[in-house]
This record gives sequence, C-alpha cells and structure tokens, in this order.
Amino acid sequence: MSKPDDILSDLERRAELGGGEERLRRQREAGKLTARERIDLLFDPASFEEIDKFITHRCRDFGMADHVVPGDGVVAGHGRIHGRLAYAFAQDFTVFGGSLSETNAAKIVKIMDLALKMGAPVVGLNDSGGARIQEGVLSLGGYADIFLRNTLASGVVPQISAIMGPCAGGAVYSPAITDFTIMVKDTSYMFVTGPEVLRTVTHEEVTKEQLGGAVTHNEKSGVAHFAVENDQECLLLVRELLSFLPSNNLDDPPRVVTSDPHDRADEALDSVVPAAPNQPYDMLDVIHAVVDEGYLLEVHHAFAKNILVGFARLGGRPVGIVANQPAVLAGTLDIDASIKAARFVRFCDAFNIPLVTFEDVPGFLPGTVQEYGGIIRHGAKLLYAFAEATCPKLTVITRKAYGGAYCVMSSKHIRTDVNFAWPTAEIAVMGAEAAVNILYRRELDAAGDVAAARAAKIAEYRERFASPFVAAQHGFVDEIIRPRQTRAKLITALAGLETKRDRNPPKKHGNIPL
Ligand code: HXC
Repeated sequence: MSKPDDILSDLERRAELGGGEERLRRQREAGKLTARERIDLLFDPASFEEIDKFITHRCRDFGMADHVVPGDGVVAGHGRIHGRLAYAFAQDFTVFGGSLSETNAAKIVKIMDLALKMGAPVVGLNDSGGARIQEGVLSLGGYADIFLRNTLASGVVPQISAIMGPCAGGAVYSPAITDFTIMVKDTSYMFVTGPEVLRTVTHEEVTKEQLGGAVTHNEKSGVAHFAVENDQECLLLVRELLSFLPSNNLDDPPRVVTSDPHDRADEALDSVVPAAPNQPYDMLDVIHAVVDEGYLLEVHHAFAKNILVGFARLGGRPVGIVANQPAVLAGTLDIDASIKAARFVRFCDAFNIPLVTFEDVPGFLPGTVQEYGGIIRHGAKLLYAFAEATCPKLTVITRKAYGGAYCVMSSKHIRTDVNFAWPTAEIAVMGAEAAVNILYRRELDAAGDVAAARAAKIAEYRERFASPFVAAQHGFVDEIIRPRQTRAKLITALAGLETKRDRNPPKKHGNIPL
C-alpha cells in the first residue's frame, strides 16, 4: 500500500469506528443500527458522500484533549434518495452519547446551508444525549445555530426528523421546527424535562416511554407524525415520504407513471354515504376508492382521528388529502384536528402540493373543554391556512357541510379552485334538528302533537337545505357529481390547474393565530 493510502486508511478506520467496538456492540444490543448503517439504508446504494469526516472537537477541559474521535460524533453529507439529491446527518451515540459539540454542530450547519443553496431536503437522524456537557455554552450556541437554519429552511426545502434514540432538553426544538417527525417505538424518546427531574420537582412518577415515547407523541401530544417499529422501517419511511415531495419550494412534486386508469369509476362510492344522516361511515373507504392504487400515506395517523391528512397520488401526481372522518366524533372539528390539519395544509401550500379536501363535517365540537382550550383560536388556524393557501385546491362535499366548518373546509369563498358536491351533500347553517328547535320553538311548544309537528318542520328544512342544489345555484359548488365519477373529475380538474398562479398581497408575513 502507498504511504497516502496508509495514512488515510488509518484515519478512516478511526472515524468509522466511532466510539469503538464495545460501544458499537452496545448500540446494536439496544436494537439500534449505528449511525453509518442508518446512513447506508437512507440513501440509494453507494451514493453517500461524507463531509468533515476528520473534524475533531476543540475542547481542552475535563480531560477532553485525550478523547478525540475523528468526525466528533456525527456523520454528515449528501447522497441520492430515489435518484434525487438530499442531505442528511446522523448523530453517533457511541461518541460522547451523540452529544452536540461546537464542531459537530458546525458540520450539521454546513450541510443545512448547502441544502438550502442547492434546494434539496434535509434529513436529521437524531440519537443524542443533548448538549455536550463539557463544552457548555459553545454547545448551546451550536443548537441555536441549527434552530436558525431550521427556521430559515422552513418552507424552502423539506426537513424530516427521525428520532432514533434520546432527544431531550432544548434539542427537541430542532425536530419540532422541521416538517415531519418520525419516532422509533421503544428506543426513542423526546422530552423537554426528563423523568428524574419530574420526580424531584413535581413528584410525578413516570417512565421515559410514558413521558415521551413514540406512542405518547403520536397519540397524545401530536409532536410526532409517525411511529415505526424499528430503524429499518424508519429509514424506508423517510424515503417514501420524500417520494411525494418536491426537492424545494420552486420544484414540482415528482410524478410517477400509474397504471390505475384516470377514469376508473368505483360503483361502491354511490352507496357509501348511509341513508340516515347521523350514521357514520369510514371516509378512508372514499379516499381509497378515489386515489391511485387506493394508496394513502397517512400523516399523524394516531392523532386527532376525526380528521385525516396524508399524501396520495391522482393520475401519478402527488396530492395532499385533508378529510373529515365521520367515523370518529362524527367528523367534528376540535382543537387537535384543527391544529393537525392546519399544519398539513400549510406544508402542502409551501411546496405547492395540490390539496384535495373531502368534507363531511357537522361543525366544531361544542363544550367547555373546547372553549376553554381555545377552539376559537385553534379553529382559526385551519381557516387561515386554507384561506392563505395558493396551491391548487379542490373540495368534494360528500355529506355535511354545516356552519363555520363549511366556510373553513376549503370552501369556494376562500379561493378553492374547484368545488364538487355529491348529491348526498347537506349544506346549511346547522343540522335540521337543531335548526328546527331554534326557528320553531314557540310554534312547537304550542302544537298539539309536538313530535309530528317537529317531524314535519324537519322534513321541510331538509328539503330546503339538505341538498347541494342551493349552493350550486349560487355558484358556491361548481358541479354536483355522481360519487363514482369522483376520481375522473378530480384528475381532470387537477390537469386544468397545472398553470395556476395565485398570490397573496405583499407583506412581511401574516399573523396566523398561533
Ligand atoms: C457529554 C454525554 C452526554 C452529554 C451522554 N454522554 N450524554 N457526554 N454530554 N450530554 C456520554 C456518557 O457520559 C457516556 O459516556 C455515553 O455518552 C453514553 O451515555 P450513558 O449515560 O452511558 O447512556 P445511557 O445509559 O443510554 O443514557 C443516555 C442518556 C444519558 C439518557 C442520554 O446519557 C443522559 O441522561 N445524558 C445527559 C442528558 C442531558 O441532560 N443532556 C443535556 C440536556 S440539555 P461513556 O464514555 O461512559 O460511554 C440540552 C440543552 C440543549 O441538551 C439546549 C438547546 C437550546
């Protein structure tokens, strides 16, 4: 071997060994892949180019001068995912617990700056004990440098965080700013303050898993968008998610060739809405029957199940789906559903991914819990998000479109391009029972046969409002379509919106009710 080879091989070996054989063994024993194995699975084979492999920390305190590992605990660089450029970093827990030092933060910042310049996504594989304790404020500064890049890159390039180990303290705020967070069950956790501190300060007894595990953040807090079984599944999911997204806000979302006929008519859709107005059905059945190959990549699947959001394709073109779910809480909008959908709508709009809304909503969820929790403020987020969105917007009203929720759910009035309704649509200020009680209270009180009088009034109200024809007469619905035609109609409408150009008035930024 030549001398240059000798020198380089030795350095490379040291960098690739990370924290050493023993710590690598412990990492695998914990059910986790190593940082390099993760990078290999994330990128297309042999496409990864590493940067700053030989960088070392500069800390001389706490005996750190004797502990130097080339690369300093993070693997960073760029490669191809489904043939497209992407940047990534993977924290190496075997080196000082993957903790963030001044120099490894600088590596992360370097790839984020490059990603922004090239217009390519950034993927962060998090597995870290947080700020490197020995480096004090230099480490904190490194975090702040990353948070700034996360913020500046938001809406310019997609940012995905995979949590594949600890992510605690202020470190959680980088994933929180990124677009999607995926957590691996049993091996990952996120919290601002850990169980030990809680025990001392609030006397709460809680495990790491209960406080900030994948299930907690997917079901309760909504901090995470996906929960996966293991590292392999996590990295495959990152790749799949990116397959729906453009590389940046100026690129078009990537299209695929589909063998699913554009004009495929699914007769089952004609009978999916039950005859009784209060009987639930599963909106997923509608979505699956309409989109390419019946495939929806649901986002936030376990959180606020009364609304569905996710990515699908129509005629090979990626779309963002937002849909009320009548099978859960009758499809009402509550605080969590509003926040979930608003964030998704804003993501799709930022990257010009067309939004397709399926609507069956009886209104906002009533009650003190919702009012005290600020449903007014949170519901306004969804209204604001749909109203400010300039990406192609399409809506299909399958059944109820009541009250304020009618306005919110991508109505014609807030610049939706194409609004369809099924003949089963009911567009009204409120449901027939509630309306009749308010409008005819005195009359009903005075009636001999109250039940018969109420039933007659309800029937009258239904005839007047429980159909999409009034809205269609005013042009608030562009077309009343047969349910089985939905796929063909949406694909044709999407094609008509290819050249859509719309903009908001010039401003520094709006003031979404956060
Ligand atoms: C330096 C660290 C470290 C850290 C872990 N290590 N965290 N070194 N700075 N923050 C080292 C350990 O000393 C150990 O070194 C190795 O990493 C593995 O750690 P273990 O404790 O043996 O692993 P484990 O039992 O799995 O526990 C993992 C852990 C625990 C839960 C993450 O290490 C831990 O609690 N670390 C401290 C977490 C923390 O409080 N970080 C600061 C958060 S505040 P050896 O040589 O023995 O292998 C923060 C502020 C960010 O991050 C602010 C941003 C604004």
